Amino acid sequence: MLDPCVFVIFGATGHLARTKLLPALYRLHRAGRLPEPFAVLGVGRRPWDDEQWRGEVARALEAQSGAALDRAALAALLPKFRFFSADLDAPDSARSLADALAHIPGLPRNLVFYLSLPPSEYRAAAAYLAAAGLNAEQAGWRRLVVEKPFGSDLDSALALDHALHRDFAEPQIFRIDHYLGKETVQNIFVFRFANLMLEPLWNRNFIDHVQITHSETTGIEGRAGFYDGTGALRDMIQSHLLQMLALTAMEPPARLEAESIRDEKVKVLQSIRPIPAWAVHAQAFRAQYVHGGGAGRSLPGYVEEEGIPPRSTTETYAAVKLLIDNWRWRDVPFYLRTGKRLAREGSLIAIRFRQTPQQLFGNIRPGPLPPNWLLIGIQPEECIRAELQVREAGVGMNTHTTQLDASTCRQAGHPGLDAYETLLLDVIEGDHAQFLRSDEVQWAWRVVDPIVQTWATEREYIHTYPAGTWGPREAERLFEREDQAWRCSFEPG
Ligand code: BG6
Repeated sequence: MLDPCVFVIFGATGHLARTKLLPALYRLHRAGRLPEPFAVLGVGRRPWDDEQWRGEVARALEAQSGAALDRAALAALLPKFRFFSADLDAPDSARSLADALAHIPGLPRNLVFYLSLPPSEYRAAAAYLAAAGLNAEQAGWRRLVVEKPFGSDLDSALALDHALHRDFAEPQIFRIDHYLGKETVQNIFVFRFANLMLEPLWNRNFIDHVQITHSETTGIEGRAGFYDGTGALRDMIQSHLLQMLALTAMEPPARLEAESIRDEKVKVLQSIRPIPAWAVHAQAFRAQYVHGGGAGRSLPGYVEEEGIPPRSTTETYAAVKLLIDNWRWRDVPFYLRTGKRLAREGSLIAIRFRQTPQQLFGNIRPGPLPPNWLLIGIQPEECIRAELQVREAGVGMNTHTTQLDASTCRQAGHPGLDAYETLLLDVIEGDHAQFLRSDEVQWAWRVVDPIVQTWATEREYIHTYPAGTWGPREAERLFEREDQAWRCSFEPG
């Protein structure tokens, strides 16, 4: 049973609220998963009343769901929505908010404060809440939800934590990395620790290397202001990709509870070998897309996107090679790469096993037998597939590659939950397991900071790739051997 609560969204009229939070709340409501009673208080600068906000909510949901919108569910949901017009700089405004919250009828004072705001406003919002005593757990719990980026380097992450911890205790803070709410990301954990047959192979003795790729076909989608000061390394690798690495590499936790799980993830991040400045060239690669397209399309280059300075050298593609110095993984490279405007949309963890010690069989293609791979598709395909060699029917002992498919529940007709649905329920439940602890964020910054610093001193030149391709060939310089190459899809290589 979930506690009844008020879900307060700061930045209620913004992009994240419209595209992720409101649809997730609507779907949870339709599925009967929200607590009862429940209210959503939108907080924004606009001078709106409840009715105007409800109209906006309805329009946002219609825009997302179109004809599939369940009008009866929407009609039952809208009365739960209220609006509060706030001024984060005015102490009186905070007291009025406290007053408004105290007067929502029939609800205990369990409060979620979701900061769907630019990170530069997190401190002001936390201080605003504290000014009216809304951080104090009296007659109900208080939870503060913040979205990445948590700082732009280790120092700023520490400063942000320091500021948040002035008003909120760590157990009240939920740092969202929405990748942790994705079905297959959660399945990495189950797949690894619910199956005995993988464990003996899951180490440096049998695994050649691991690749984690997140590729997008879209560009920066109107987010020039944020993206140009951030770049692919900080936007994706410091957060989502390092989280996927931690789940792939971690030891089994002592118990299925937040602190045990987060302890194990932190140990992995702590064990990543620091990259000294002199090794950045060999272990990290960056590039930027230029005009391209192919197949009759014309895609603008990064510096032609609206709001991007013409001489910007911000990377839209980043790849790194990381080594984890522990007993399980020593000397197994983890290659992480991400990019905007690449050839295909998708997130894939590809684990390549070592070659068999002796090659007895022929292969329908020339060359050595393909090694075994384990492919974990995060999106759009949500699946786990093992690639094995089997005998080719007919004469002789030729082999070909076959895939064993361990599909997830969605393929079997189960709708599953979207990442934000999962994470919003976890916040209401008070479960921190899929949220980042402050030390986890700090260790992740420690991994990427040396690269960020080195790149900051090399601002005159950046490699380029035509939009719509897989990125520059030069990125292959990260590979340790010639038989290693980027795995781009589920098609047998
Ligand atoms: C966000 C990044 O955290 O994740 C975006 O800021 C990126 O740049 C997005 O596009 C990717 O998330 P998803 O769920 O669309 O794969």
